[in-house]
Amino acid sequence: MSNVSSAVPEPIIQLRDLRKVYKTGKVSVEALRGVNLDVPKGEFLSVVGPSGSGKSTLFHIVGGLTPPTSGQVIVGGVDVGKASDAKRTELRRTTVAFVFQKFNLLPNLTARDNIRTALYIAGRPLDKFEKELSNVLDLLGIGGRLDHRPTEMSGGEQQRVAIARALATAPAILLADEPTGNLDSTNSRAVLNLLRDLNERLGQTILMITHNDEAAAFGHRTVHMRDGQIVEPLGRS
Ligand SMILES: Nc1ncnc2c1ncn2[C@@H]1O[C@H](COP(=O)(O)OP(=O)(O)O)[C@@H](O)[C@H]1O
Ligand SMILES: [Mg+2]
Repeated sequence: MSNVSSAVPEPIIQLRDLRKVYKTGKVSVEALRGVNLDVPKGEFLSVVGPSGSGKSTLFHIVGGLTPPTSGQVIVGGVDVGKASDAKRTELRRTTVAFVFQKFNLLPNLTARDNIRTALYIAGRPLDKFEKELSNVLDLLGIGGRLDHRPTEMSGGEQQRVAIARALATAPAILLADEPTGNLDSTNSRAVLNLLRDLNERLGQTILMITHNDEAAAFGHRTVHMRDGQIVEPLGRS
C-alpha cells in the first residue's frame, strides 16, 4: 500500500531559515539569524538560552505578534510570514496562547472573570464556559479560587489561573515564556508538573522558554539558543 501513515506526527510548527532584524533609527539588531526548527504536534519542547539570544522574539513570531524579516514560519498550517494582519489575529485567537513570567492577570477581576475575558476576546460563547472548562480547572487545582482576585492568590495560583486563561480557547499551542521565573521552587515545580499533565492528558503542544535546566527537563526535548541561532549545548566550563 502507498500512503501508509507515518508514526511521526506532522510538525505543528515549522521554521525555515527564520530571520528577524529590529531596526531602531540607524541601529539594527539581528535577533534571529537563520532558525530552523520542527515541532511535532503534542511535543513539550523547552527552549533554553541566555538573555538576548532571541527566545522571546522567536515566540512572538510563532505567536503571530511580530512578523519575521525573512524565512518561513508555518504554524498550524498557516504561513505566518505571508499572512495578513487579520489572519495573524485569527491565529492568536484560535491556535496559540501565551503564558508570561509576570502572570499579566487583570488585577480588578476575579480568576473566573480573568478567564472569561479570554473567551470574550476570542469571540467564544460564555455560557458553555463552566462546563467546558471544568476539566481543565480540575487539572489546574484552582476550582476553589475562581472568585478570588489576583492579590488574594499566591504566585503559583496566579500562574495557574493565567494558564487556565490561556487554555480557555483550546489553543493547539501553548507558548510559555519563563512561566516559573517569578515563582519559588515549590510553586515552580507545581506549575511545571501542571504543564506536563496538560501535555500528557490533553496532548497540548507546549513550547516553554526557561533559563533553568531543571525546568527544561520537564519537557520531552530541549533546544539551545545563542546569538539568534539554535546551537548544540555548550559543554560545562
Ligand atoms: N522590539 C525590539 N526592538 C529592538 N530590539 C529588540 C526588540 N526586542 C528584542 N530586541 C533585541 O533582540 C535581541 C533578542 O531579544 P529577545 O528575543 O528578547 O531575547 P531573549 O528573550 O532570549 O532574552 C536582543 O539583542 C534584544 O535587545
Ligand atoms: Mg525573553
